[in-house]
Amino acid sequence: MTLLVKGGTVVNADYTRQADVLIEGGTVAAVGTGLDVPAGTEVIDAGGAYVMPGGIDPHTHMELPFMGTVASEDFFSGTTAGAVGGTTTIIDFVIPSPQQDILEAYHTWRGWAEKAATDYSFHVAITWWDESVREAMGTLTRDFGVNSFKHFMAYKGAIMCDDEVLVNSFTRAGELGALCTVHAENGELVAHLQNKLISMGITGPEGHPQSRPSAVEGEAADRAIRIAQVLNVPLYIVHNSCIESLQAITRARNDGQRVFGEVLAGHLLVDDAVYRSTDWDYAAHHVMSPPFRPKEHQAALWRGLQSGMLQTTATDHCCFCTPQKRMGHNNFTRIPNGTGGVEDRMHVLWHHGVNTGRLTPSEFVAITSANAAKIFNIYPRKGVIAPGSDADIVIWDPSRERTISKDTHHQKIDFNIFEGMTVRGINTVTIANGQVVWKDGDIRTVRGAGRYVDRPTFPSYFDAVRRVAEVTAPSAVERMGAAG
Ligand code: URP
Ligand code: ZN
Ligand code: ZN
Ligand code: ZN
Repeated sequence: MTLLVKGGTVVNADYTRQADVLIEGGTVAAVGTGLDVPAGTEVIDAGGAYVMPGGIDPHTHMELPFMGTVASEDFFSGTTAGAVGGTTTIIDFVIPSPQQDILEAYHTWRGWAEKAATDYSFHVAITWWDESVREAMGTLTRDFGVNSFKHFMAYKGAIMCDDEVLVNSFTRAGELGALCTVHAENGELVAHLQNKLISMGITGPEGHPQSRPSAVEGEAADRAIRIAQVLNVPLYIVHNSCIESLQAITRARNDGQRVFGEVLAGHLLVDDAVYRSTDWDYAAHHVMSPPFRPKEHQAALWRGLQSGMLQTTATDHCCFCTPQKRMGHNNFTRIPNGTGGVEDRMHVLWHHGVNTGRLTPSEFVAITSANAAKIFNIYPRKGVIAPGSDADIVIWDPSRERTISKDTHHQKIDFNIFEGMTVRGINTVTIANGQVVWKDGDIRTVRGAGRYVDRPTFPSYFDAVRRVAEVTAPSAVERMGAAG
């Protein structure tokens, strides 16, 4: 089947121009005007609209078993909600339990994800260490298309990595040409503050942000960055929520270190006032880590995106419904951590980014797909509309509005952190792998149509890292005779 997206303005991260897009068999065949179009081609009118690469959400957790329950959104419902909102690829996480065989966990997640409607890939978390983990990392990169490993510096007593695990895993990932990623919060400090707050009788959701102040995140971000610096490996810090971690990244980048930063749509737009609500359920629905921050942090995070110190946007889509949140009704430390957003990310970022002049449409493409594709080494297959690229495309009407609500969204969660927000500029059509999966309110996703995306090791920035290693290699001093 061939498709022609006609009359739109193609927006890539590096150029914008009037062009038609011809799609054949799931890939982009041509971009331009006056194209040779085979007879029988279906034509989609994109007049007056932008035609952009489908979004890549590099941080989701579909059907994650976590904190005594399982995230309510599954790979089919979640990728469908993503497609409705213009996201056509997710990178989710395999999170083995401590001591669990890493490859077994990987295959378990691959099984769950077979129902995905759009393309997906996996970061694999390193939650413990021994020789078998070292070997499994090699197998995953060599045979299973994994090129990034995740490290939780929080969640003590569960999946937290101590520095020894970080050093071992970062070293191994560096050898393999895989990118290390971290959830940066000092889990020891979080546990200490949680105990203190509970002993003071602070058991409600307001205890959550008070147990995770921004210094806790800044410390971990800086520690991970310094460990990566010493080991000479590139580093990606997920869900930066605060000035402290942004400053750590900024300093490191200004010092020439290869550090990447992700920011969540929620952290850009929601502030910590939500935790002071007297409605327990409302406050608890915002319990995620790191927590939402005072307003000055949001302003800084936008500046971080604008300046290029932060390169990617994600959602950390990890849905828990009200009965699940109520597992922590008498103790905030037991409220499952996570919020949704995979359907809303592109919309809220366009509205608050492009409509406000913070971002150009091309910069929007950079932070919603192209940069993630480059960092995780799937560019130009993903993240650009060019001949040979996957036909993952959104047709974006800059004048169309939507008011976000849990009552109308397609995410499998009974809450929305952007409830009531009216956004202008949304996708009217989503194309995934050359198939129209969303058109003017009509959902056409197919269970299992998504493909697993292999991500090759050694993205190009590893060449630079390798040269740094050569220039700074340890050396011995030649001396005559023995020491006296
Ligand atoms: O609260 C969150 N973010 N839940 C999902 C797990 C994680 O830390 O990313
Ligand atoms: Zn996290
Ligand atoms: Zn996460
Ligand atoms: Zn209760």
